[in-house]
Amino acid sequence: MKYQRVVFLFIFLFIMQPAMAANDSLIPGDVQNYIGYGAIVFTLLLFLVVMLVLLRTFKVLTRIILKSEGYTEEQIVTEMKPVKKEKKPKNDVWIKLLSLKPLSEEKEILIAHEYDGIQELNNPTPAWFMVLFYGTIAFAVGYMLIYHVFGIGQLQDAEYKTEVALAEIAKKAYLSKSANRVDESTVKLVSDPGVLASGSVIFKQTCAACHGDHAQGVVGPNLTDEYWLHGGNIGDVFKTIKYGVLSKGMPTWEKQLTPKQISDVANYIKSLHGTNPANPKEAQGTKETDNAVIPLKKA
Ligand code: HEC
Repeated sequence: MKYQRVVFLFIFLFIMQPAMAANDSLIPGDVQNYIGYGAIVFTLLLFLVVMLVLLRTFKVLTRIILKSEGYTEEQIVTEMKPVKKEKKPKNDVWIKLLSLKPLSEEKEILIAHEYDGIQELNNPTPAWFMVLFYGTIAFAVGYMLIYHVFGIGQLQDAEYKTEVALAEIAKKAYLSKSANRVDESTVKLVSDPGVLASGSVIFKQTCAACHGDHAQGVVGPNLTDEYWLHGGNIGDVFKTIKYGVLSKGMPTWEKQLTPKQISDVANYIKSLHGTNPANPKEAQGTKETDNAVIPLKKA
């Protein structure tokens, strides 16, 4: 009883300790924690010391009482030696677990009937089996409460849906990551409307000032014709956008745009091929006719 209280007290202290430290005092939380733990350790040590002192006191008192009752020194020593416990038989646990009766007690569990001299023992069901049996009942009750009464747990169907949703999120994250891993050697020509729309937005915001609203060319060259200064296939265009041509006034976009964005805008430019916008800038660079892969899309 005494020990239980002490144990409870310390469990309580351990649980409450962070809560007590959570108020906003001048001492930082960490230090409060250390003080708390220190106090607990100190209390434990104090407790131990008190116990030892008490034990010592009892011993001395016993000695005094025994002496006053006329015991000799030797008798006192033998009297105060702790009583040695008898050793239990080794397989005690095993026997208990199987609920076996020792042979000597078999007579008690002998069933009265007899067939041709064969008799039966009414052995109790082994403890392990009973534990398992009641365990399944407890499990069933818990299971029913959790899954069917309170609905805390998810049933198979819901669990499946959750997992699929999680996988979907993971897939999206993975795809957006891998989409961002493109470079000039891996970029692909696509005509996906989503990609072109995103590219169009980027183009209007960042490129139109120099290349014109319809990429017809202003300071920068016309991007809709067949003439290219730095190559007209998607990889070349990606590369020009990524690294720029600083000496000629085309900025580097590597820092401002993600690889995905560069890929989008490069695809958007490719999609403008042959749109013949009004007031085109005169052709610059070399004519590239082998760009047959370009999707001929009217903007
Ligand atoms: C500050 C003006 C400016 C801005 C902004 C600009 N460019 Fe350019 N761009 C140029 C110039 C100038 C050239 C020509 C470079 C040369 O003569 O080598 C060029 C060239 C290019 C080329 C190569 C064309 C070819 O014939 O090979 C592409 C592709 C291109 N720009 C795409 C873009 C894209 C995409 C953006 C927006 C993200 C953009 N540019 C923003 C000025 C600009």
